[in-house]
Amino acid sequence: METKAYNPYENMIAVLEQAADKLGLKQDEYETLKYPERELTVSIPVRMDDGTLKVFEGYRVQHNSARGPYKGGIRYHQNANPDEVKALAAWMSFKCAVANIPYGGAKGGIKVDPRKLSKDELIRLTRRYTTRILPLIGPDQDIPAPDVNTNGEVMGWIMDTYSMFKGHSVPGVVTGKPIEIGGSIGRAEATGRGVTIIAEKCLEDEGLDPKEQTYAIQGIGNVGGTAAAILYEEGKKVIAVSDWSGAVMKKDGLNIPEIREFLSDRKNCLKDYNGEGAEHITNEELLTCDCTVLIPAALENQITEENAGDIKAKIVVEAANGPTTVEADKILEERGILVVPDILANAGGVVVSYFEWVQNIQSMAWELDEVNQMLKKVMLKAYNDVRTMSKEKDSTMRMGAYMVAINRITTAGKLRGGPISMA
Ligand SMILES: NC(=O)c1ccc[n+]([C@@H]2O[C@H](COP(=O)([O-])OP(=O)(O)OC[C@H]3O[C@@H](n4cnc5c(N)ncnc54)[C@H](O)[C@@H]3O)[C@@H](O)[C@H]2O)c1
Repeated sequence: METKAYNPYENMIAVLEQAADKLGLKQDEYETLKYPERELTVSIPVRMDDGTLKVFEGYRVQHNSARGPYKGGIRYHQNANPDEVKALAAWMSFKCAVANIPYGGAKGGIKVDPRKLSKDELIRLTRRYTTRILPLIGPDQDIPAPDVNTNGEVMGWIMDTYSMFKGHSVPGVVTGKPIEIGGSIGRAEATGRGVTIIAEKCLEDEGLDPKEQTYAIQGIGNVGGTAAAILYEEGKKVIAVSDWSGAVMKKDGLNIPEIREFLSDRKNCLKDYNGEGAEHITNEELLTCDCTVLIPAALENQITEENAGDIKAKIVVEAANGPTTVEADKILEERGILVVPDILANAGGVVVSYFEWVQNIQSMAWELDEVNQMLKKVMLKAYNDVRTMSKEKDSTMRMGAYMVAINRITTAGKLRGGPISMA
């Protein structure tokens, strides 16, 4: 079968158009949502440890600000490119609208394989990138956060660089910071925690006992690793996990703490893990393994028309952004597999990022219980809004989520008398 080259931006537009059509919107009413409001490409010269100079390419895309300041992570990946960042920025606008937090959407990225850089090189890369995007970011303007291959430490470097330019400390310029410099307790685990909250609720709604089910997770990083750890702590069976190097499986449940401990050494990867009873499988085998809940938590374009027909899970909870192509979505729908879309399932991170930003504005630090309870409340409210919309419009949860988001963003645009109201 000939497959067309995957383009996440085109994927985003295709879903947006379907949802707007279902909502009965005229093209003029949602046309602006197809395009980012602002795009910046930057060059980032870095002096490498061996004295040579390398120039990297970076991006910051601001998609929509009708509902508040732009918000979105920064990704370091060798395949980062403008169309990927544009799609991710739009997904952030939709996600913040689904969660009903007062932000628009943005995303950033650098085309780099961070595993090939030393820590000092990464610091220099991050600082130079920050200076390049500095005119666009700020606590009232655009607030970055971690994404693939970035973390709290990287956020600390960004905050420091921004603060140096401002001449005073500005913790609210990024979220996902270390707690000691204004980060929120519970933020590092929030996306993974949100994924487990949604998976549990969804299983209950489908009449399945969450404790009796099996879970397979593609990508045991920030998000997938936390989700795996929470499920394990709750006594649930995580039977397969993977990283970029390969996957492992154990039908009666993997020892997740042992795997995470093994991977905490940056030099280790799953292909070298040899825990008791763990069988090595391929990433493709993980996606199509016999489990109740499949959690793709790596990158886009993983569930495609090539493998959608072989997926055995009853529910797919999209922890990653854009893991399912439009074509695969249709196949899963026809096969009766319930897909909880990314813009709902992985919203936990940006929800606690919002809490972090609020704490920075208040100069307060909340307790973990408070953060987790509020996270649960916001996630379940978003889930119910999406389910209600899907039922009302007799459509998938993805369509339901997009319809909720488009409704909220276009309404905000109209109330502001902005371009979305020009129709
Ligand atoms: N970090 C957040 O708060 C957050 C929030 C919302 C959404 N997301 C999305 O979740 C996904 C994962 O983000 P993260 O922050 O956990 O990144 P991460 O870099 O911490 O983890 C990514 C994981 O995926 C693995 N991986 C990479 N390529 C793979 C492949 N081809 N097959 C299998 N595994 C592979 C990596 O080895 C790693 O284990 C991304 O789509 C990201 O946009 C992240």
